[in-house]
Amino acid sequence: MTLLVTGGAGFIGANFVLDWLDARPEAIINLDKLTYAGNPETLARLQGDARHQLVPGDIGDSALVGRLLAEHRPRAVVNFAAESHVDRSIHGPGAFIETNIVGTFRLLEAVRAYWTDLPEAEQTAFRFLHVSTDEVYGSLTRGDPAFAETNRYEPNSPYSASKAASDHLVRAWHHTYGLPVLTTNCSNNYGPYHFPEKLIPLMIVNALAGKPLPVYGDGMQIRDWLYVKDHCSAIRRVLEAGRLGETYNVGGWNEKPNIEIVHTICQLLDELRPKADGSSYANQITHVTDRPGHDRRYAIDARKLEAELGWKPAETFETGIRKTVEWYLANPDWVAHVQSGAYRDWVSQNYAERAT
Ligand code: NAD
Ligand code: DAU
Repeated sequence: MTLLVTGGAGFIGANFVLDWLDARPEAIINLDKLTYAGNPETLARLQGDARHQLVPGDIGDSALVGRLLAEHRPRAVVNFAAESHVDRSIHGPGAFIETNIVGTFRLLEAVRAYWTDLPEAEQTAFRFLHVSTDEVYGSLTRGDPAFAETNRYEPNSPYSASKAASDHLVRAWHHTYGLPVLTTNCSNNYGPYHFPEKLIPLMIVNALAGKPLPVYGDGMQIRDWLYVKDHCSAIRRVLEAGRLGETYNVGGWNEKPNIEIVHTICQLLDELRPKADGSSYANQITHVTDRPGHDRRYAIDARKLEAELGWKPAETFETGIRKTVEWYLANPDWVAHVQSGAYRDWVSQNYAERAT
């Protein structure tokens, strides 16, 4: 038995692949375009493991996807592949349209052709799991209830609009063609191997480098944080027992304003890697120009996943963030390698134009 995972060299996909192969015998074919966010080094400990094959390539390459499906005959496809950073989508939406919409369309078509020709038992057992985001639901105000699966889609950024479009395609391929799909919409992840363009890893690496900690606007935007391995366990559970055509919201009931997250990181670093002069990392916090169209609050109502499938996160925010800071302190080489070259170009583009 084999899974085809797409985007499995990125942050969440790689955590999923590593956790899967730690616990199960089933092999993984890992199709990843290896964009700036795809990092084979994250998968280094799988070298020599015959259960894992990393295939550089695009989900939009129908011939390649068709060949992989025909050769490996996976029982499921788990689609992580995407352009994922909101700020990059504001600077250049084209790649988001190309991968998240057109790429998902081409992937769905290749999978549909494969699935249609499967023998009946394999066809019945087959699953296409699409990994999506809470950002498709738009922004909440302070008193609003958390996002349920029945909320209207109101995406606000080029990123979230492209993910919303991909969710609609997945839904339509089920409704029209009967493709056995599942969709998960998860809140903000954090944890090991997170690319340091996103809030939590950026704050950790900037703090350690003595650089400013750039908080957008007033820092009172709220995100709902989930440790990445809990997201991976939710995906495994939905793959195993989710009802066909359904969507499941994934979250850990951990709403926090950004400024509180940054202070927590500073406190942990003050404890684990105190500065020689005894000052706090919090002195590096700088408020900078806000993100255009910045969503004010996300919050996930995960009751459907909890009640129907019995899923629960293993980490609280306090345990997860401590593990995360410890992981970055223990892995300076991984950080140094991803911060070379193109990463520096992005940082100067995104932050140079933000007045403090
Ligand atoms: P990431 O940017 O770290 O990784 C994306 C991976 O996809 C990279 O390895 C990249 O090389 C690969 N990729 C990009 N375009 C591709 C293409 N055309 N073909 C094949 N591979 C391609 O992203 P992530 O944070 O790991 O997110 C994974 C998925 O989870 C995305 O679909 C994202 O929308 C979703 N998601 C992310 C979060 C979060 O907090 N990071 C939360 C909810 C949902
Ligand atoms: O909600 C799920 C989404 O979470 C995923 O779908 C996206 O792929 C993922 O990138 C993430 O999106 P966000 O925009 O919420 O994540 P980011 O880490 O970029 O920002 C988190 C918050 O921190 C947001 O309110 C913007 C703010 N921020 C971010 C950066 C990079 C800052 O204040 N300063 C920064 O330098």
